[in-house]
Amino acid sequence: MYSDYVKSDFRSFKSDKQFITAPIYYVNGAPHLGHLYTSIAVDILHRFMSIFGESYFSIGTDEHGQKVEQSAQKNNCEVQKYVDDMYAPFHQLMKVANIQYDSFIRTSSEKHKSNVLHFWNKLLDSGDTYEDSYKGWYATRDEQFYAEDEVEDRYIKNSKRKVAKISGSPVEWMEEKCTFFKLSKYNDELLDYYKKNKSLIGPNARYNEVIGMLEARIPDLAITRSRFSWGISCGNGQVIYVWVDALSNYITAMGDNVDYWINDMIHIIGKDILKFHAIYWPALLLSTGYPMPKRIYAHGWWTVNEDKMSKSLGNVVEPFDLIEKYGIDPVRYCIMREMSFGQDGDFSHDRMKNRVNTELVNVIGNLVQRVLAFTWKEFGETLTINDLEDQDLELLKNWDECLENSFEAMKKQQIHVYLEEVRKVIVKTNQYIDFTAPWKCESEEKKRILAVGIECIKRLALIIYPVMPGSSEKILEMIGCDCKISNWFVPLQQKALDKPSGLFNRI
Ligand code: MSP
Repeated sequence: MYSDYVKSDFRSFKSDKQFITAPIYYVNGAPHLGHLYTSIAVDILHRFMSIFGESYFSIGTDEHGQKVEQSAQKNNCEVQKYVDDMYAPFHQLMKVANIQYDSFIRTSSEKHKSNVLHFWNKLLDSGDTYEDSYKGWYATRDEQFYAEDEVEDRYIKNSKRKVAKISGSPVEWMEEKCTFFKLSKYNDELLDYYKKNKSLIGPNARYNEVIGMLEARIPDLAITRSRFSWGISCGNGQVIYVWVDALSNYITAMGDNVDYWINDMIHIIGKDILKFHAIYWPALLLSTGYPMPKRIYAHGWWTVNEDKMSKSLGNVVEPFDLIEKYGIDPVRYCIMREMSFGQDGDFSHDRMKNRVNTELVNVIGNLVQRVLAFTWKEFGETLTINDLEDQDLELLKNWDECLENSFEAMKKQQIHVYLEEVRKVIVKTNQYIDFTAPWKCESEEKKRILAVGIECIKRLALIIYPVMPGSSEKILEMIGCDCKISNWFVPLQQKALDKPSGLFNRI
């Protein structure tokens, strides 16, 4: 009996509360695949954990700083007007990509500015700041200060230029009066803290990178700029360094609920902004008396057909085109499957097409279509499971394991592990249908097998909800199930079936 099998209780899956953040995006250019990828990743983590507990998700746009000001000037545009125009596609992308954030912060908003000033005053009160002059290298493209040993000469278009070694961005020598933050004071405290809490930064390679930076020692940090004005003014003709402004967005996002959420901060970032999140930000939090982030997880970078994605190479993958071409659920699924979360990956349309055809159409779409079409034709309604044979039981247990393994993986932000677990169990379900061949069976047996098949489809729809919410809802609607994963162990109610329509198109 099905009821004998269902001993697990859905409530045994319980996740910790999480305030999960995506980076806020610079608005000096249009959104690209990198922005889409981070947004989707955080959305999946947020949707998944919201099912099992409380999750709050923030994202937004980083609108201040010299880079944005220079872009506005190049475009002969007043800066506020420029950022208003440039922010719009990022905001629109959230809609089109089905990103279900709780808070979208624009750093040029009044709410954010007043929050940053509040944070700034706390920083001044901490006694951890002092006035001095900065003399050193600065890369506007990275909005980052670099030490002498972090820059080198390179030939760019036949002329020698000083660039930052790690990013290749051109650097300029800068001398300006500014306020410094005593970052070096926190060096050892951070090092101790991370050594005691190894799981705080993921993946492991990034953890080691941070330990390496701290062991090499971090100098104090200039936290104001005075050569330009597009930022939050802190008096004396200076504006707050764009990274202090940007990182504070996480506090703005929590709003009046800061006390409720701040212990639960999980930052999802790209690997290029690790230092800011794992060193600068925690030190600023320690100085102002806030708790440390619960976890910082850095994902890798996309290349395109093995090249760096860049405007000059003309190979930037444009997210609106991508979504238009493949549909949002296939895009969400394929880009997360294409690259292990935390590693680098390469984008190509050939691989994208291949994945749509081999995984979405042939595996997921095929299972849903063959089971539902056959059930519709033979019985005209969904079937509820009752008696189970060993092979049925084994399959359902595989689905339970998939849920458990996915849950464990997602607690560690292992999106690729979750998706692989799902793929594996779907393949097994297709094999079960092939093996039991319901089309050859007598009515009662046919009914039993198809009932198990529909139960698997229900679970498939529930488990893919975080990654492909639209397709999940479509399946659940066809079989008359409410879109809650707590329905995992609850048998379906009988419902008249319509002729099922295909989920994914072959490309
Ligand atoms: N504004 C800062 C973040 C401030 S967070 C307090 C910033 N913005 S960004 O627009 O340049 O980058 C935003 C995110 O996109 C980063 O996490 C970055 O790693 C990611 N990506 C940018 N290009 C990327 C790829 N080619 N591939 C994957 N992600 C990449 O940094």
